[in-house]
Amino acid sequence: MRVIINCAASVDGKIALPSREQTKISGEEDIARVHRLRASVDAILVGVGTILSDDPKLTVKKEYAHGANPIRVVLDSRLRTPESAQVLNDMAPTLIFNAIKNGKYGNAELIKCPEKDGKLDLDCVLRELEKRGVGALMVEGGGTIIWNFLKEGMADELNIFVGDMVIGGRDSPTIADGEGAKSQDEIIRLMRIEAKPMEGGILLRYEVLHGKVSGR
Ligand SMILES: NC(=O)c1ccc[n+]([C@@H]2O[C@H](COP(=O)([O-])OP(=O)(O)OC[C@H]3O[C@@H](n4cnc5c(N)ncnc54)[C@H](OP(=O)(O)O)[C@@H]3O)[C@@H](O)[C@H]2O)c1
Repeated sequence: MRVIINCAASVDGKIALPSREQTKISGEEDIARVHRLRASVDAILVGVGTILSDDPKLTVKKEYAHGANPIRVVLDSRLRTPESAQVLNDMAPTLIFNAIKNGKYGNAELIKCPEKDGKLDLDCVLRELEKRGVGALMVEGGGTIIWNFLKEGMADELNIFVGDMVIGGRDSPTIADGEGAKSQDEIIRLMRIEAKPMEGGILLRYEVLHGKVSGR
């Protein structure tokens, strides 16, 4: 499986306001790129933190769609996704990975996976997605999810649109939150594959060195 992380950040690496409220970072050109990327993958994954703060639909805009919407995937150990969440609408299939049960939750399928260090085991998540035919997965955040995919060696590519802005604030979510590297050895090494000026910012694309997934 190929795993591509995509996010938009300010120049100081923040991905939302200190209140965690979503803010517009991408320009129209980047929004179009994100929808083309969504249309090219089999599944789009976010953490429950992003569902609770942004309530995203995680679908492809009509003008970029070719075929059905990708599967939507939420990592939500304790089933905190509200029944009213847009990700539960009927525009695409949704899988909610959790640590409690298998079954149904509105339009979504619940899939139980074990926990590892207090978070859902990503090996289990990716195995279950592979069983359902997912060959390309886009990870759209937030910061806790992105850090864990990087830390577990589960990402092949990191795309960051860096908007021409500073958000600031010690408490603003960043590209990679979670615990971060505890020593030099745990720093995630990247190889830059693209740096492209775009309307309102720059797109940076990196290959993640030592990612485990492509070789699975
Ligand atoms: N600018 C952008 O591109 C962008 C994109 C997306 C989000 N955001 C922003 O990011 C913020 C949300 O980020 P966040 O860090 O709070 O939440 P998050 O990364 O979306 O979700 C984190 C939660 O997912 C659950 N989880 C389950 N398994 C996990 C695993 N293996 N690894 C990591 N998490 C796992 C955990 O909650 P449980 O323990 O309850 O399961 C965890 O607290 C919001 O402010 C949003 O606006 C920005």
